[in-house]
Amino acid sequence: MDLGAKLNGKRVLITGASSGLGENFARLAAGCKAKVVIAARRKGRLEKLAKELEQLGAPQVTVIEMDAASEPSIDAAFAQIDASGDMLDVVVNNAGVSNDGLALTLPTKDFDDLMAVNVRAVWLVSVRAAQRWQAAGRGGSIINIASIQGERVMPGITPYSTSKAAVVHMTKSLALEWARWDIRVNAIEPGYIGTEMTDAMWETDYGKALIKRIPMRRLGKPEELNGLFLLFATDAGSWMTGACVPVDGGHLCSSL
Ligand SMILES: NC(=O)c1ccc[n+]([C@@H]2O[C@H](COP(=O)([O-])OP(=O)(O)OC[C@H]3O[C@@H](n4cnc5c(N)ncnc54)[C@H](OP(=O)(O)O)[C@@H]3O)[C@@H](O)[C@H]2O)c1
Repeated sequence: MDLGAKLNGKRVLITGASSGLGENFARLAAGCKAKVVIAARRKGRLEKLAKELEQLGAPQVTVIEMDAASEPSIDAAFAQIDASGDMLDVVVNNAGVSNDGLALTLPTKDFDDLMAVNVRAVWLVSVRAAQRWQAAGRGGSIINIASIQGERVMPGITPYSTSKAAVVHMTKSLALEWARWDIRVNAIEPGYIGTEMTDAMWETDYGKALIKRIPMRRLGKPEELNGLFLLFATDAGSWMTGACVPVDGGHLCSSL
């Protein structure tokens, strides 16, 4: 079965597409000849990526400057999507931030800022997509990019782990509410993957020690998420909803 071919002609929104995993998903979708909508704050990077996506085979690329922390900005993004072509078929809630700091000294603002992007935006974007699909009497696929931190914890990133656990629960709860309309909601739980979010850490002694605790003893590559992404995005996964699946080199089942 050619999963990529199943994405041909579908319209896919990817938030946080200006770098890292989002950029990778945008390239994957473009290579499958999907219409790609890329959203993030750094418009210059999106515009550069858009040219590449066209060369990769995307029949339509829509660039949207969107601040996921702002509800009006998300509303404006959906207005732009509505005005610029077909309905979405797949929505990828990928935009995310992390911060470091022990709970006793972390400023409240850091907690709030992280939750606005990692949790509230997932909610706002998902609801807007599902409202449109329900009104049109058709289904759709939402893919949330959670994390292994949504299942287990480590010190120093409590807001991040908490946010990803919220995404895991939101995925299951929205899947339950929307399954009757064939709106599927699933989550990928990546382990450690080298991207701008984490690159600096892997050079430190702490980072190197972390990699040794991954059973496969290496970081993942963004493209190692692509198989699961295509399963969730296409009708190859038509009976999958509420699934939160780790892709992590075995990290979640590492030895206690
Ligand atoms: N890398 C890993 O090891 C790993 C592991 C598990 C889960 N994840 C998750 O994967 C997702 C992507 O992370 P990444 O590793 O690819 O990190 P990244 O390279 O730092 O990318 C994060 C993306 O999110 C966007 N973003 C951040 N704040 C935003 C905002 N307020 N509005 C709109 N977009 C915003 C950024 O775009 P702009 O700055 O241009 O807005 C950027 O495109 C995140 O949800 C992350 O938690 C990553």
